[in-house]
Amino acid sequence: MGTVSAQGLRKSFGDVQALNDVTLEVPDGSFFVVLGPSGAGKTTTLRALAGLERLDAGTVHLDGRDATHDPPAARDLAMVFQSYALYPRQTAFENIASPLRARKAPADEIRAAVAQVAELLHIERLLDRRPAQMSGGEMQRVALARALVRRPRAFLMDEPLTNLDLKLRVEMRTELTRIHRSLGGTFVYVTNDQVEALSMADHLAVLRDGTVQQVGTPTEVYERPANKWVAGFVGSPRISLLACHAEGDQLIGAEGWKLPRPQWATAEDGRPLLLGLRAEDLSVERRSDVALDGELYGLEPLGDRTLVDVKIGDAMVKVKARPTVTGTRGERMSVVVDLDRAHLFDADTGLALAGTGR
Ligand SMILES: Nc1ncnc2c1ncn2[C@@H]1O[C@H](COP(=O)(O)OP(=O)(O)OP(=O)(O)O)[C@@H](O)[C@H]1O
Ligand SMILES: [Mg+2]
Repeated sequence: MGTVSAQGLRKSFGDVQALNDVTLEVPDGSFFVVLGPSGAGKTTTLRALAGLERLDAGTVHLDGRDATHDPPAARDLAMVFQSYALYPRQTAFENIASPLRARKAPADEIRAAVAQVAELLHIERLLDRRPAQMSGGEMQRVALARALVRRPRAFLMDEPLTNLDLKLRVEMRTELTRIHRSLGGTFVYVTNDQVEALSMADHLAVLRDGTVQQVGTPTEVYERPANKWVAGFVGSPRISLLACHAEGDQLIGAEGWKLPRPQWATAEDGRPLLLGLRAEDLSVERRSDVALDGELYGLEPLGDRTLVDVKIGDAMVKVKARPTVTGTRGERMSVVVDLDRAHLFDADTGLALAGTGR
């Protein structure tokens, strides 16, 4: 078993409220990602789960049992820190073996276990080296191996791939999800990288200012963001948000544009709204009546696609178009909108209108 749950965690450091009522339910065997920007409270949440932080309020349950007052060692959780804390005088082998040594495992069992994780993480050739003889990325993989060598109740990982170059990081994402599948076990994985979160998670919690904004599968969070902040944080390029309101059967933009009002736009007439449009749901190549008229502002070639910035009055909308798209700045350009894939948020509360999109 390996369920980890937190109810109503609160923690302040002086006048900084690092955790403000954080509740998480991590199912057994899941790859649970906590995503949020720097300072959101991700590390503090993991440290609270691990028993390294004295909480102002809240409880932690492990496998359904109240572990709030258990010391870290009694929780049977393996934590990989943001800064890999390796023993400098020991070789990679000795570092990785240390949790098994502490348990007084027999030498041949230790050798076999270390060889297995070293192979998983492609660090066999590093086993005789000390940390000073390794790169940051290599040390990070050794720290991961040290966590993976035992079978704890759950793994807590704090941005374990940050020191890797982009190519290795992308490889390690795939490796880690493969390791998760082959080892089984519960992973709680913290990152500020939304691409990493969406590609690795089976469950995703989005954290901001010590508050959980949304929990769901990556698809749910991407396709049905609970509020405009989540919509803006998840997805690249950033979702375009246009001020508007509903009136009768129309949506009317602050910039003067008009679109048919989607059936699910249940807000009362006149209430300030934000129309959220993702770049990949828009087109400047097709023709349609359901379009926003604007002018071309800029083209940014991305290789397989070109990102087109279109000015709608004073607002800017980003469109992912085919790389063949051309034009000059100031040229008139229409942005075709697929309202079934659009989002509407209440401008005051930021919350998505119920039934928004899809
Ligand atoms: N020991 C501490 N003393 C004072 N303030 C702290 C301490 N630890 C964390 N904080 C503050 O609490 C907030 C949350 O910090 P935390 O380290 O959990 O953020 P994070 O989401 O892990 O950010 P990052 O992505 O930068 O690692 C921040 O405002 C931080 O400055
Ligand atoms: Mg952190």
